[in-house]
Amino acid sequence: MLAVIGGSGLTQLANLDVSRRQVVRTPYGEPSGALTFGRIGTQPVVFLARHGYGHTIPPHLVNYRANLWALVREAGATRIVSVASVGGIRDDMSPGALVVPHQIVDYTWGRQQTYFEGGDTPVVHVDFTHPYSEALRMELVRAAEVAGEAVIEGAVYGATQGPRLETAAEIDRIERDGVNLVGMTGMPEAALARELEIPYAALCVVANWAAGRGDSGDAIHFSDIEAVLQEAMGRARNVIGGLCTEAFCSA
Ligand code: HPA
Repeated sequence: MLAVIGGSGLTQLANLDVSRRQVVRTPYGEPSGALTFGRIGTQPVVFLARHGYGHTIPPHLVNYRANLWALVREAGATRIVSVASVGGIRDDMSPGALVVPHQIVDYTWGRQQTYFEGGDTPVVHVDFTHPYSEALRMELVRAAEVAGEAVIEGAVYGATQGPRLETAAEIDRIERDGVNLVGMTGMPEAALARELEIPYAALCVVANWAAGRGDSGDAIHFSDIEAVLQEAMGRARNVIGGLCTEAFCSA
């Protein structure tokens, strides 16, 4: 079953035919909200709003471990697509663009980032050379084609701590690191998915130019972001819809 984790601008999936909601507890505490089960087309899908259904949980306080545990170990999800809003740095990552990143640089700190916490469990160092599932990334790209939506394939995602946005100098430094877009929730989510051995990929929605870039030269203007996000999240939903067509119903 496909799991979709929705970020800012995607607190529900309009194309999900909802059958039930379930509150789940995990050994790591409570997920961001009840899991929403339903179907898109013929495909069973489980959805979770990363920041809570009222969008009250900031990125550094999201219980990433509980969220992934609930989706994988309690709901039985076999693959996870994260939909997340980001700021664009690379020239082609302008507001409204949909991007399927292939790499991550992690700038977050102080988050619960592993299921391996010592005690009786042996230490495990998971391989994270390629942080996203290549197969699921390619399915997302092909699903976008099926849905007739343009996506940019390949980008380096920088996970920043938030909840504040970056300074212009931080974005300059992050760009020198080779990062193309920034968001606040990509880590430790991707690493935890790898620890659970579940295919995970991200569909990023560029909400704004990153600090100091494009029309964010003097400030990031939130009044513009809402409309951009709403329209682009509609296209992201279409891509998820594409992923739920017969061509991609392998799991
Ligand atoms: N920076 C970090 N995270 C974000 C941004 C940004 O500019 N826009 C949306 N999420």
